[in-house]
Amino acid sequence: MNKIIYLDAAATMQKPDCVIGAEVDFLRNSYANAGRGICTRAVAVDDMVAATRRRVAEFINADANQVVFTSGATDGLNRVVNILTRQPWYAEMSTFAVSDIDHHSARLPWQELMYDGHIRKMFKCELDENFDINPNSVPKTDFLVITAMSNVLGRSQDVRAIIAAARRKNPDVVTIVDASQYVVHEKIDVKEWDCDFLVFSGHKIGADTGVGILYIRDSKKLFPDKFGGGMVLRVGGIESATKGSGGALFYENNPDLNLILNESPEMWEAGTLPLSQIAGLTPAIDYLEKHRPNLDLIKYAYDELEKIPKVKILTTRDAAILSFVVDGMHPLDVGALIGANDICVRAGNMCAAWIHTRMGIPGSIRISVGSQNTIDDINKTIDVINKIVK
Ligand SMILES: Cc1ncc(COP(=O)(O)O)c(C=O)c1O
Repeated sequence: MNKIIYLDAAATMQKPDCVIGAEVDFLRNSYANAGRGICTRAVAVDDMVAATRRRVAEFINADANQVVFTSGATDGLNRVVNILTRQPWYAEMSTFAVSDIDHHSARLPWQELMYDGHIRKMFKCELDENFDINPNSVPKTDFLVITAMSNVLGRSQDVRAIIAAARRKNPDVVTIVDASQYVVHEKIDVKEWDCDFLVFSGHKIGADTGVGILYIRDSKKLFPDKFGGGMVLRVGGIESATKGSGGALFYENNPDLNLILNESPEMWEAGTLPLSQIAGLTPAIDYLEKHRPNLDLIKYAYDELEKIPKVKILTTRDAAILSFVVDGMHPLDVGALIGANDICVRAGNMCAAWIHTRMGIPGSIRISVGSQNTIDDINKTIDVINKIVK
């Protein structure tokens, strides 16, 4: 029997049986490539991919053709930067805005652009006393990156209000939402939020690693960042085609790159998709919607940890995760000692160095729950922390 207590769902969620079953069934009984074959089995895979896309679209209130499969949130966040900077309208004098609750994956692709001189200035949205983004502080900017829930602080941001405030200052602002943690706990509505791009990873919602979602609101005005099989309708020797024919884009200014692209989502999906991982997405979403992590466990852990004098809790009681530090001990030492007791928590800067720097600490220890966790897991963990701290 597996005696590990797993309290690190925010890093990656344990897989429900329905996901494992769907992937095994696909690999064993239904395996073929998508978007290429005409045999019955290949067509069935196409149907599976299309049905999964529809399910994801319903999950975030998008249209199916706005849902693009990526390899994960980091891939999606990097791709958005690559997509935007290769558009003819992209100007190197642009500005972008971030906040200190960002994960490295959300901000670093933009910072790199700045170091290379391809973007002029970085602004930061102000945070209030709970480290929430204050919508009134959102600067006038060309691009805005919003972390919908910090992976250290676990609080839902008011994404709709933040975007509305940004659009009041610049109606053309391009908004990118990192929903990697938010998606686990709350319903996403891309239409209500009015965002241009949104990303999350499959593995954090109980699906497999290697698959992620990139929502793109309007692909009509965009050229792709990746080229290859599956995203091209026709290639070469198409002199008679006119721009926009069949709704597709046509590169007419370069005869060697003479091609007609598929429309979204295919235009974004060059190469073979992560099919077995996609097969696990629908059951993962179905399962998550019925079994969201029980945040009463976090509240209970909060109340118990608060009783330990040397423990300083960094999160609020109503947050989706619990992060803390221990006076006089490095977070990595605390994490290692908890881990030595067969309890998995996350320790360190959690790829979110900025919020830790802001709090004046090198890192923290994080407890996060999945649907499999029980109050017994929390009690055992509190006992262990009590012993470590003494
Ligand atoms: C808020 C946030 N953004 C982005 C990521 C990156 O996700 P992935 O490593 O699955 O690409 C994470 C993962 O921890 C995260 O918590």
